Amino acid sequence: MSLSKSPDFIVHSADPLNGEPPLETLRENFITPRELFYVRNHGPIPDIDPQAFRLVVNGMVERELELSLDTLLNDFPKRTVMATLQCAGNRRDGLIAHAPIPGEVAWEAGAIGNAFWSGVPLKEILNVAGARLGAQYAAFMGADEVIRHDENVGFGGSIPLEKALSSEVLLAYEMDGKPLEPVHGFPLRVIAPGYIGARSVKWLAQITVQAFSSKNYFQAHAYQLFSPQTTAETADWNAGLQLGELGVNCVITSPREGAQVLGEVQVEGYAISGGGRKIARVDVSSDNGATWATANVTRGDQLWAWTFWQTRLHLESGETEIIARAFDTASNTQPEDVRHIWNFKGYMNNAWHRARVKVA
Ligand code: MTE
Repeated sequence: MSLSKSPDFIVHSADPLNGEPPLETLRENFITPRELFYVRNHGPIPDIDPQAFRLVVNGMVERELELSLDTLLNDFPKRTVMATLQCAGNRRDGLIAHAPIPGEVAWEAGAIGNAFWSGVPLKEILNVAGARLGAQYAAFMGADEVIRHDENVGFGGSIPLEKALSSEVLLAYEMDGKPLEPVHGFPLRVIAPGYIGARSVKWLAQITVQAFSSKNYFQAHAYQLFSPQTTAETADWNAGLQLGELGVNCVITSPREGAQVLGEVQVEGYAISGGGRKIARVDVSSDNGATWATANVTRGDQLWAWTFWQTRLHLESGETEIIARAFDTASNTQPEDVRHIWNFKGYMNNAWHRARVKVA
């Protein structure tokens, strides 16, 4: 792998490249180091010549645009936003433990990472293009080839125009102050904070302003949420919930499942919500949810970023299951068990996170 990823990086598939950091390394840095930042690709990484690169803006606009990288870097304001990206498939392994999900990446809880993204606020571009009356969505297309049923469907997705016009949505050309790496979308990607990672389209080639959400496979087909009893055969793809804003989630990064611990144990993790809602409280239980201790939030001051939390528990010797769950500022919280939210595509697992440990 000619990539700047850590040797510990867990590669789920090499082509397309999909990988995540070991969970215990994720909580070591509030800003995820590049070599630990997860990678989620549906096709090969395109090789884009920055000189020849043009971003096309079309659809329901007053003026169609074709912008070079030079223009984007020099003629538009630059803004930096700290934002956590999380894949809708994060924690799919927990759903798979309940019932198989063939053909999807078995993500652990590391398909998430936090970075400083810098670029042009999307609204600056849309203001120059001028959205016409009736426009409702900004639809994005990447330059990567993604083959589905023998056809190149590419990778696309959309966000509501209202979100596209908010100041946190960027066309990013830098990650942590350095040009994007090819694997993370060089030369240009969308960053849609608070939304599932799939809407942060990498290798951005085109923005179409339109009255309907993207018809691309990855908006109109994949990344839809169905009920537990729906199967690939029974799914009505016109009736699924098209994923957008993230839900509230919380993960124990330490101790890990199966760990040997002492009676007094430090429990740590991350929590995150979507749509600009912050984490209001994290609860930890060691008696299957009968009682809960409130964890200390150590970092939770940034609107679009995750929250880090920790607490100390005193555990009796023997086997104990530690559970964590979070509440966000709209008092949304998490379901107790994966079986209530299992879905055949394996998205949005935010059931209580559990780690069974052996106490000495
Ligand atoms: N953009 C393109 N063009 N192609 C892709 O496969 N994957 C999406 C999104 N943008 C993808 C894409 C998904 S599902 C996620 S979770 C994020 O990119 C992952 O971003 P990262 O690989 O930089 O972590």
